[in-house]
Amino acid sequence: MEKKRHEELAEEHLKNLSKESHTIISNQLSKTVLIDSEKEILAKEQCIINKTLVGTYRLDKIRSRKVIYHAYSGCFSEALTASIKDNPLLSTILAQYFDGFDYSLTAEVFWINQGGMAIPPHQDRSYDSEKQLSIIVPLSLNINNKYAMSYSGVEEGTTLDHNFSISNMVYYAKSIQQYVFSANYRPTDIILHTEYSLHKSRSMPKDGVRITYARYVARKE
Ligand SMILES: [Fe+2]
Repeated sequence: MEKKRHEELAEEHLKNLSKESHTIISNQLSKTVLIDSEKEILAKEQCIINKTLVGTYRLDKIRSRKVIYHAYSGCFSEALTASIKDNPLLSTILAQYFDGFDYSLTAEVFWINQGGMAIPPHQDRSYDSEKQLSIIVPLSLNINNKYAMSYSGVEEGTTLDHNFSISNMVYYAKSIQQYVFSANYRPTDIILHTEYSLHKSRSMPKDGVRITYARYVARKE
């Protein structure tokens, strides 16, 4: 079968973004890049916890050990950043999403930890209303869909009411009983979501396998 051109594929993904606020770009990264990037990021996490590397982060609510829940800076992989920046399909989608304006990328990483916190259902606009596109890269090769970050399709522009949980310091969407969530992605895929996307994850039992995600946030410069 003839390979679709980037422009046609980009158009499909932009349609998904407008209909569902997220889209999955299949099979974009090699497993080697994922393995190497995760190693690099795990090593940086330890340095950040030991304070030999500067980074802003939040620890998970686990008493027995120190693990990062979300690193907002300082914890990224050079190799992965290069792969993201060099991906022609992704560049085409981003250029169209931002109407040809320049955009910047910031790198973050977050984890679903064993015995740690859940990611409550939310739209990113609850804490950051700026137009943005999140590039989510599942790095772990072993992803248990039951606990992985899952999505429910909501049309771009849908605004759900959120409450803030002081005990967990997170926003969560109210009245979302009718939404069905699924995690239809695999390692090597890249997920894109807008600030309207509705996503969540369950907290994982203590014997689960930690799931690592890299996140790049693209914003107009
Ligand atoms: Fe989010």
